[in-house]
Amino acid sequence: MKKPILVVTSRFIKPVETRIESEYEVRRKGDGTLFTGDELLAAAEGADAMLVMPFDRLDVEFFKRVSPSVKVISTYSVGFDHIDLRAAAERNIEIGYTPAEVTDATADVTMLLLLGASRRAFEAQTLVRTGEWTMPRALALLGWQITGKTLGILGMGRIGQAVATRARAFGMKIHYSDQHELPPEKETDAVFHADPLELVKVSQFLSLHAPESEATHHFLNAANIARLPQGAIVVNAARGGLVVDEDLIAALKSGHIAAAGLDVYEGEPKLHPGYIGLKNTFLLPHIGSATIESRTNMGMVALDNIDAVLNGSPAPSLAKASLDRTERLVPA
Ligand code: DGY
Repeated sequence: MKKPILVVTSRFIKPVETRIESEYEVRRKGDGTLFTGDELLAAAEGADAMLVMPFDRLDVEFFKRVSPSVKVISTYSVGFDHIDLRAAAERNIEIGYTPAEVTDATADVTMLLLLGASRRAFEAQTLVRTGEWTMPRALALLGWQITGKTLGILGMGRIGQAVATRARAFGMKIHYSDQHELPPEKETDAVFHADPLELVKVSQFLSLHAPESEATHHFLNAANIARLPQGAIVVNAARGGLVVDEDLIAALKSGHIAAAGLDVYEGEPKLHPGYIGLKNTFLLPHIGSATIESRTNMGMVALDNIDAVLNGSPAPSLAKASLDRTERLVPA
């Protein structure tokens, strides 16, 4: 039987690659470089499906031009801010994503950011690695303990809730903001703020877990940073576009924000050079979902989505245009 044609824009973990190679006729760039927009469209000519990454931008223009043979595109991510869902729906192309598979790994990295920022891990690592740690220093590298502090979580979806579970175990008090208040059994002791700006005011630690959308783009700007308590710590394992880099850098320099832990950056893999020169930043290269387990499960579900659409059976995770995350998390 003829195998479906699948366009693939990256290399994946072995079990995922094995499945791709056995189930599909694969089209990919042999030299390991990224597809340009035109190359991706050319590769999609006559293809049945595509497996893409968050760095592939599938915008209105892409969907205007993409081959009518393409029935499903699955993204290897929970985020689908890089895909115009409405334009996809207009072309009757289903969009698959991997919402449940990244939760634990990303929540773990959020705790790493929170602890790395609050315990000055970058400076501590540097001291050890440069050989400058030459004597006991009772007053050196004092951080900010998280026990008993208020953690504000913006976006209380799967990952936000998994972060809350972990942070509770560290003795933090949980406040959150989202479109809807959680049901009591999920909310437990967490405090809901319908207005995200009220959340910001109480957040000694603020963790961003909202999807990037028109409503959340540049949420953490100078005005909202000014609302944070003096000496707050900010972490972001969601999307870089939630933050105005210049404003956060200015607050990190002034000390209004004591430290930041960042796994994502607007325009990544480039990041604002201002972050690099600061000691009070703990910076990671978008490794939220980067565990063997998570990346394997993501690949399998991404392929399950494709198989299901091509076979006409129910897919595990399809993103619908109605899910287009432009709901207002932030009041105008
Ligand atoms: C996601 O799943 O959206 C992650 O950010 C991708 O690595």
